[in-house]
Amino acid sequence: MQVVISVGGSILAPGNGPDQIAAYADVVDRLADAGHSPGVVVGGGGVAREYIETGRELGANEIELDAIGIAVTRVNARLLLAAMERGPGAPPASTYEVAQRQLQRTDVAVMGGVSPGHTTDAVSAALAEYVGADLLVFATSVEGVFDTDPNVDADATKYEELRPSELVDVIVSLEMNAGSPAPVDLLAAKLIQRAGLHAIVMDGSDSERVLRAVLHDEHEGTEIVPTAE
Ligand code: UTP
Repeated sequence: MQVVISVGGSILAPGNGPDQIAAYADVVDRLADAGHSPGVVVGGGGVAREYIETGRELGANEIELDAIGIAVTRVNARLLLAAMERGPGAPPASTYEVAQRQLQRTDVAVMGGVSPGHTTDAVSAALAEYVGADLLVFATSVEGVFDTDPNVDADATKYEELRPSELVDVIVSLEMNAGSPAPVDLLAAKLIQRAGLHAIVMDGSDSERVLRAVLHDEHEGTEIVPTAE
């Protein structure tokens, strides 16, 4: 199965220690050993935000700040590559074409950001569309897609399943509430809808859960199920 895994920078941050990164590398190796083709997209997390905030205070414009963010995602991707047995033997792919070639050659691809103006959520969805992925997994710091921000609303309810168009509607309503960040950004949701992707948004703090989700479709996150709409 062709699977794209989006690992948030808060999950693979160096600050979480090498074990977390090594565990993810092991999961990617095991997926490839089991005959799957994982394409992994790594985010920038708190480290990227720190760099971006400092750059903003120094007067960098938004495109320059995006470039700083992309650089951090690629550094995080290099940490994952460093821990992998079955890596592509190359730096993080900087384009979808290169990622696809890595997948064809080695069954594994690792990348960070691609171009300014969006986040690695959108990169993951675009890669999944590009390579015709069977499954796209967002390994995030939240348990799934909720109707309101679970960090501030004790009554927030998690969706078990959403159609892509419903995901878009939920993300739009979440993004209208300042300080209530959506687990997946709107561009990613739109790409999921356009490509009719099958996706899972789940807590990725334990990499073994991601492995179970891919191998056995067992997870407690939100499943995005494409339907004829
Ligand atoms: P992330 O994908 O980590 O952003 O990229 P995020 O959603 O803010 O982080 P998480 O989900 O909490 O981990 C970090 C930053 O890098 C730039 C953006 O500025 C983004 O905010 N970036 C990343 C791009 O401009 N283009 C890309 O393709 C990827």
